[in-house]
Amino acid sequence: MIRARDPGRLDRRVSVAPMMDWTDRHCRYLHRLYAPHALLYTEMITAAALVRGDAARLLEHDPAEHPLALQLGGSDPAELAHAAGLGAAAGYAEINLNCGCPSDRVKSGAFGACLMLDPPRVAECVRAMRAAVDRPVTVKCRIGIDARDDYGFFADFAGAVLEAGADALIVHARTAILAGLSPKENREIPPLKHEYVYRLKGERADTPIVLNGGLADPAAARAAIARGLDGVMIGRAAYHRPALLAELERELIDREWAIPDPIEIVERMVGYAHGQARRGVRLHSITRHMHGLLGGRDGARAWRRFLSDMAGRPGAPPETLFSALPILKRAAAA
Ligand SMILES: Cc1cc2nc3c(=O)[nH]c(=O)nc-3n(C[C@H](O)[C@H](O)[C@H](O)COP(=O)(O)O)c2cc1C
Repeated sequence: MIRARDPGRLDRRVSVAPMMDWTDRHCRYLHRLYAPHALLYTEMITAAALVRGDAARLLEHDPAEHPLALQLGGSDPAELAHAAGLGAAAGYAEINLNCGCPSDRVKSGAFGACLMLDPPRVAECVRAMRAAVDRPVTVKCRIGIDARDDYGFFADFAGAVLEAGADALIVHARTAILAGLSPKENREIPPLKHEYVYRLKGERADTPIVLNGGLADPAAARAAIARGLDGVMIGRAAYHRPALLAELERELIDREWAIPDPIEIVERMVGYAHGQARRGVRLHSITRHMHGLLGGRDGARAWRRFLSDMAGRPGAPPETLFSALPILKRAAAA
């Protein structure tokens, strides 16, 4: 196979985190309108689901979503390699292995964060995925797991996956607590330790390392880049206020980029929703990701109420969104 892998080619300065049930294709289409360069991640898809299920449906996306990274969950090297190949064939620019998700379901399937306890296995998975595809293979991990929360543990794990050929490491800078905390609590209670990630970058200057966890404004993102990291990955803050992605695009990538107006976003989403309606997609499946459109601005609450009351109605046509134009215009004028 001709190896076209070039980790420097993908722009990692801004990425949107993989988020189950949130970063589906409709959400990614919306995010792309705000940020032309951000690297967008899928929700985690298990390798088994791709290999044994309807891969075409699971991998389907709109060309406008690119550049896109596929996040896989799994711990079987052959299965992950097969799934990675399916993702590459479907056009994903990067294949990422989830080593950070602490949920029970994932724990019982022996993948996600608990893989951090088995670096040789993760290394084997990375090697197998890398051999299967001609594009970057990356790992998203935590800084530790349960009582294994010292820097040495994290650095050893990072070393194992990087030596196996991982092209970049994305670090949610919290320890995962497998016993006693829900996945949601695991994103809030264990303290953020960004310093671990800076220290790792200090020791591995040539490795692309992306910081994730608690970054919620352009100043925090700029500070991370200024301290030498290769990029920032944003999760909840981007979902709840997608205009943040436009602010990051402007701050870190293109000084000329204008923050899109919510009215323009709605117009584009109505066009998109028409195309999706022809494929049987309900308007609600799209608008459920649009609650943050006016995040922090006048009318935000009225907009959310509008979406819940009107656009959620079964059979609502995409134009329904235009009846909220007065709310959006007031927000623009404020
Ligand atoms: C609803 C939700 C679902 C998530 N699903 C995934 C997932 O599928 N894979 C993953 O690696 N992380 C997942 N995460 C974790 C995020 O990718 C990210 O690491 C975490 O939210 C911290 O970043 P933030 O503080 O910017 O939100 C999820 C987070 C949320 C809020």
